[in-house]
Amino acid sequence: MKLAIIGTGYVGLTTGTCFAEVGHHVICVDNNVSKVEALKKGKMPIYEPELEELILSNVSAGRLHFTTDLNEAVAKSDIIFIAVPTPPHEDGSVDLSYIEAVSQEIAQALKPEFGYRIIVDKSTVPVSTGGKVSQVIERYAQGAVDVDVVSNPEFLREGSAVKDLMHPDRVVIGADSQRAMDMMKRVYQPFDAPIVEVDLASAELIKHAANSFLALKISYINAVSAVCEKAGADVNLVAKGIGMDKRISAHFLNAGLGYGGSCFPKDVKGFIHIADQLGAPLNLLKEVETINAHQMTHFLDRVREKLWVLRNKKIAVWGIAFKQNTDDVRESVAVKMIKALCDEGAEVSAYDPKAMETGAAALEGYPVRFCPDLYSCAQDAEVIIVATEWKEFAMADFQRLRKLVRLPIIFDGRNLLNPDNVLYAGFEYHSVGRRSLYPETAEGLA
Ligand code: UDX
Ligand code: UDX
Repeated sequence: MKLAIIGTGYVGLTTGTCFAEVGHHVICVDNNVSKVEALKKGKMPIYEPELEELILSNVSAGRLHFTTDLNEAVAKSDIIFIAVPTPPHEDGSVDLSYIEAVSQEIAQALKPEFGYRIIVDKSTVPVSTGGKVSQVIERYAQGAVDVDVVSNPEFLREGSAVKDLMHPDRVVIGADSQRAMDMMKRVYQPFDAPIVEVDLASAELIKHAANSFLALKISYINAVSAVCEKAGADVNLVAKGIGMDKRISAHFLNAGLGYGGSCFPKDVKGFIHIADQLGAPLNLLKEVETINAHQMTHFLDRVREKLWVLRNKKIAVWGIAFKQNTDDVRESVAVKMIKALCDEGAEVSAYDPKAMETGAAALEGYPVRFCPDLYSCAQDAEVIIVATEWKEFAMADFQRLRKLVRLPIIFDGRNLLNPDNVLYAGFEYHSVGRRSLYPETAEGLA
């Protein structure tokens, strides 16, 4: 089918590429000229595993195109997906100005002679946005156009977006007309995934309800980790024990520094605001936010307690991205923590396998020493902090690191490392929701 994607970011670019991969003809539109020019030259604007080779192969197959010309894309496509940002306002409400602007542009690009078109909200939007998009299309179109608006929320996780898109647990389609539903089912037929056919409002709510539930699950195990710390229990073992119950499942029970990223923080805030506006407040989610914020501050309290004073201390931070396998630093807890450490006068060195450029931009103005690898990052460190769950950190050579650091102290914010490796090399090992561990022999400490 002929598809257009408006907004070629983490969501739009990956979605459009996977649509092309299964045989659709896709035009990806973006108003960022340099991004489109880069893509036309085969230069990637983001890091996402497996994406680059898929883009290159589908461009050469003639199924994937990039343009800034929205009119051309609308004229040539049966279905137009909107994947532009829906960032939070200060008060937590969702900023729909990009959605509204793009809906106007699409309306002005439509012509009655084009025939039937479907406009799809791929972006995470508050319930009832679909109706507002329909109004904008009607109001700004030149003449009577035959259009249905559909909600088709995305569930991809950054760092595994291609896998999640090619093999989704389910595809949610919210439509108020059978004609639109049938056409959307044809788009997803090649993916061989269960399709949940619902009305528009339910589809919009499914997205906020899903992300908020996942965030709640993370805050739940993080709250339990604080209890484990006091009780001398091990939160990883508690998570293992409860996660074997299929009704709970082991996924998303990793205690740590809390969730970040461009989705959970904004979608929890957004859902709280939507529920308040509807008169059915979700106070539960306010507690999810409180717990999440506390994870990082409590962790820093423990580091400060260990080092007594943070000012002028050499602190190595491993990880800048908001999670492993991505270069995305939006709402990254690692970035927040590095800023807090710098504000306290610590001398911070930082390393990330992929988020060095995006990290340096996010930390502009902060006196951070960016290092090319985790060993130079650890040079003379008085503490090493693991802030992002990159597998590379768990594979480090801790014997070699022991000779580089000034004090053999590790604070693992993601319970990522194997304590035996760390202790054997003579480090103290502190993590989340578990007892602190010390090397057998005193020689481990300076
Ligand atoms: C974002 C949010 O993260 C996600 O929750 C929401 O569902 C969709 O928008 P993401 O792909 O991560 O998804 O955003 P981003 O990487 O910033 O990409 C958005 C793209 O849209 C950018 O490339 C931007 O240049 C483009 N854009 C923005 C337009 O083309 N037109 C606009 O009017 C605004
Ligand atoms: C999330 C949702 O998973 C996805 O379905 C939705 O489309 C977009 O938002 P994403 O934010 O890309 O995806 O990554 P995810 O793997 O969900 O991690 C989000 C944050 O939670 C990261 O900061 C991660 O470190 C943290 N996390 C995740 C935990 O702290 N513990 C966990 O068990 C899982």
